[in-house]
This record gives sequence, C-alpha cells and structure tokens, in this order.
Amino acid sequence: MKALMNVTFAAAITGACCLNNHNLALFAADSAGANDASSSSAETKGQLDARMKWWREARFGMFIHWGVYSVPAGTWDGKQIPGIGEWIMNRAKIPMADYAKFTEQFTPVKFNADQWVSIAKAAGQKYIVITAKHHDGFAMFHSKATPYNIYDATPFKRDPLAELAEACRKQGIKLGFYYSQAQDWHHPGGAAAKGGHWDKAQDGSMDDYIDKIAVPQVRELLTNYGDVAVLWWDTPVNMNRERAAKLHELLKLQPQIITNNRLYRGDPEFRGDTETPEQKIPETGFKDRDWETCMTMNKTWGFKSYDHDWKSTQMLLHNLIDISSKGGNYLLNVGPTSEGEIPTESVERLKEIGAWLATNGEAIYGTTAGPFTKLPFDGRCTQKPGKLYLHVFAWPKDHKLLVPVANKVRAAYLLGKPTEKLDVASTAGGKSIVLPEITPDPNATVVVVEIEGPLHVTQLGDAPPAVEKEPATSKAKSRN
Ligand code: GLC
Repeated sequence: MKALMNVTFAAAITGACCLNNHNLALFAADSAGANDASSSSAETKGQLDARMKWWREARFGMFIHWGVYSVPAGTWDGKQIPGIGEWIMNRAKIPMADYAKFTEQFTPVKFNADQWVSIAKAAGQKYIVITAKHHDGFAMFHSKATPYNIYDATPFKRDPLAELAEACRKQGIKLGFYYSQAQDWHHPGGAAAKGGHWDKAQDGSMDDYIDKIAVPQVRELLTNYGDVAVLWWDTPVNMNRERAAKLHELLKLQPQIITNNRLYRGDPEFRGDTETPEQKIPETGFKDRDWETCMTMNKTWGFKSYDHDWKSTQMLLHNLIDISSKGGNYLLNVGPTSEGEIPTESVERLKEIGAWLATNGEAIYGTTAGPFTKLPFDGRCTQKPGKLYLHVFAWPKDHKLLVPVANKVRAAYLLGKPTEKLDVASTAGGKSIVLPEITPDPNATVVVVEIEGPLHVTQLGDAPPAVEKEPATSKAKSRN
C-alpha cells in the first residue's frame, strides 16, 4: 500500500548521532510503492514487487565493514587519524606500499562465519551485506583479478566470503556484497575522493581499472558465491555512463539481485532499487522508492580501537522502529577486528535488540509505514492489514493512549497477550485505550489495535471525521 502524509510530529528519537533534524516526522510514502523506472526497464511492477518482497519484509540487516584497515585500527605513524576507520589510507595519505604491508599482519584466526551469521540471526537481522572490496582496493575474497586479496596476500589463506556464503545458506539468511566500484586506492586508475591520488603508483587509466579489476571482480562475486541477495555499490567518484553500464550488465548473472542507488548518479537507468540515506533517518520515506538507512553503532564503519562512542540499545531500537514506521529498512553496521571478531559492545547491543524483536518482531517484520501524520503520544506506529502496532516509548502517566482513528476497534491488547483485552472508548480525537498497570518495556511496549474496515485516520484536533469516500490507504500523499 501507499501511505501518506505531511508530518510535523516531533517526538525526537533521542541521540541518534549525526542525524540532522531527521527524527521529526513519522511517515513516508510506503516502500511498497512502485519503483516505476527501476533497474530494469523491462520489469513489470508485479515482477519488481516479487523481487523486492523478502527485502521489504526484512526491515533489519547487518552491514559488515571488514578489511585491512582493521589492522591499523585508526592509528598511523603513532597518530590517531580522525574520521572513519576504513578511510585511514586516504585520510593519512599512506603510501600504497606502506599500506599494503598491513596485509602481512592481517591474520583473522578468530573469524568464524557461522558465529557471525548466528549473531545476526539472534539479533533478528534477515540479511547481511559485507564489504567485498572497500575503497582501499583490498579484496576480502579469493579474486583471480589481482593478488591484492585476502587469500593471496595474507597469511590467512582463506576466503571469508565463501565461508560466509556457506554459513548463510546453512542458517537461512541472505547475503549481499558491498563493492567500491569507482574508488580504489591501490589499483592504478582507481578513483580517489578528497583530493585525488597521493601516490604516483595510483595513477593510471580509470577505464583500464574498470575493465581489469572492477568488472572481473564483480563477475567473480556474482558467479562464485551462490545466490547474492544484494549488490551495494558505493561512492561513484568519476563514474560515467559507459563505466556504469559495464558493471550494471553483470547484474544479469543474478536476476533476483537488489541493488542500491550508488552505482552512477548521472542517469536514472542506474538508480537501482533502493535509496540509501547514510547515518540519518529521513523525515519521511521516499515517494515510490524503497529505502534503507545504513548506520554505525559508534562513529566508524571499519574498526577503530579507540572509538568507544556507542549508541545505546534503546537508541538503536528506536531507530529501527522509527525507520519501520516510515517504511524503510535499517542496515546496522559492525566493524570486526583484524582478528576476526565482532566487537563485544556490538554483540551485546545486537543481542538486546534480538531479545526485543523475539517478543515484538510481529510489529516490525512485514509491516508497512504507519498511517498517522502525528501521534498524541511518544512513540511510533507500523501496520499490517487490519492491525495497527503502536510502539509506545514513554508509557502515558494517565494510562490512556489516544489513537487517532475513527474505525471501530475489534480488539486492543499488548503484543503477545491477545487474550487480555484492553478497554477502548470513543472520543472526539479518536479511540482512547486504557493501558494496564505494568512496568513498560524500557525500549518500547507495543499495543496492538485491531480495526474494522478501511483505515480512517482522524487528525488530532480535528472535528469528528467525515467518512472518506475511499480507503485512506489508497491516498498516496507524501512530502517528497
Ligand atoms: C561512505 C563511505 C564509506 C562507507 C559507506 C557506508 O560512502 O565512503 O566508507 O562504507 O559510506 O554507507
């Protein structure tokens, strides 16, 4: 369905770092809307919907930024280098040959693919996207296109992507690859943002780089690892139509693959399937576009030994709920160490999120954006046909929850307790639910409201609503 709305809702999701002004509004065009001009022009809306189905239902994925940068872990030449960890080579302008020496120390003996996948699963994450090659040019898989890869250039001599693919297959979780198609600070001709090349060894023809490194590697990724759920391009520096087309063509190797919007921004043909707001939650969703917010748990994507600025579990969960209430997905990052371990701070948080989802997952997975322009309580709303899920962040002191709908309510209850019905009264502003005397979940307590008939939203302060001619769900309005 498509939903909704002009929003001025201002219950802030506290502290979601780096977010500007994003946490105001609830709603969004629902992601299930048509991506009319999606990746393949020949694809019908029905085919697109079928291809996007699992992704739209998933709502929550794990991003993994793992590479050689986990060896310096934010420090070069005795100095702590500011910025995100995986950019250290560029930020500190480390000569190519010096950076390449880190590969000798890259021995992730504690890497255990099954364990990583179990961590994601227990967190309630439905898919994983891992950096197959980041901007530093180092391939985290056994590539034949260049010896600068984890199998040939490190003492480790294993292919973690093959191991992850196998573990994901076994545990029933989708696997996708991040691939930095344009920036490559190791192979001649690869692009470099923030000032261009700093080492002569980087100079060369970008077209040669595309033909000799990027295209063969993407082909390997889409051929040798079974089903690839997502290809996550990044930073299209110096891309052009021709370069993009060569990479785009390879997607045919995985007809069901989902791709993001970072291959090349100059032509709608390459806009992919998903918008990718980074480190922020948009005020509303994107009209007729699927979207996914990617975010770090501390301040860096790739591991930095001294970044201890962790978001709380509550903040991360509120972000997931906020994003779901706007029809998007949350791709939450972990940055494993050079030994191959996901930091304990991340694991703890993921476990706690998973515990909340084990009880409340019904209110997240397979839901669509909530229907309200504003809510009279501190929380968010997601929905399924006939059901509203009210995620209450702050339990109202008067134990009354006003839900701005005119519909007849079939039943209201706390999620997981459908037999303990809550009293519901009709008021001018909608339906008022009497909440029980409980200690609410510190993260969010979900109240389910089952309604009869097509959804009929009343705006707060409105006079009693007139009956709408058609279901609210068919009225696609969005700020975007
Ligand atoms: C940026 C950065 C990068 C990170 C990515 C995640 O584009 O260049 O380091 O991988 O965002 O979204």
